[in-house]
Amino acid sequence: MKQVVVTIDGPAGAGKSSVAKLLARRLGYRLLDTGAIYRAVALVAKRAGTPWTEGAACAQIARDLDISYDFVGDKNHVFVAGEDVSAQIRTPDISQGASQVSAHPEVRAALLELQRRLGAGGGVVVEGRDTGTVVFPTAEAKFFLTATDVERTRRRVAELAATGAAVDFEVTLREIRERDQRDASRDVAPMVPAADAVLVDSSTQTLEEVVESLAATVESRAHTP
Ligand code: DC
Repeated sequence: MKQVVVTIDGPAGAGKSSVAKLLARRLGYRLLDTGAIYRAVALVAKRAGTPWTEGAACAQIARDLDISYDFVGDKNHVFVAGEDVSAQIRTPDISQGASQVSAHPEVRAALLELQRRLGAGGGVVVEGRDTGTVVFPTAEAKFFLTATDVERTRRRVAELAATGAAVDFEVTLREIRERDQRDASRDVAPMVPAADAVLVDSSTQTLEEVVESLAATVESRAHTP
């Protein structure tokens, strides 16, 4: 069977990470979490004292970024210059930072080649916001995964609570709405479904059901000559 490129885009908390991870495992594909790259840029900028509003300086950080991934057990760990930053890039503060740095056209341009290199050769599930529209426009299987904002907030709160973080539902809902608004309205690569993406609403389906239906679509595309 052909090793294709699968893209999964959609808003924060729609279940992209869980779906992408399970789908990659089910297909025997690599996983490319592009949000982690924007998060890594935000983290490095913060550590360097570079404001997230400084597009040119953040783009330089993006160009210099030394990022790698590795599965430890069933968890996808993210390394920057060899340091495991998996936990540090998932804080609410870095979520806001990633959204801010990702709005700079020069940061997106700097990360485009890196993402294409990491996805080269196919056999990869790529997860993000613009992976089907901009990064891999010729991907064989594209999905846009979403869920209601209340459902996405519920999931994000549960996810953060599991790591021991105390989070407020209303604050998280407001943050998710702010991020959606910023991600969807930016001039460069706004978060919109690709014209040829399959739209999937995960609010009313279990994770397993979503993965099954995506896998069936990918398998049918991978069989197509
Ligand atoms: O999926 P995530 O929450 O880890 O993404 C973090 C931020 O990065 C999100 O606010 C939008 C941005 N992002 C993006 O602009 N393009 C992508 N392909 C992936 C993420």
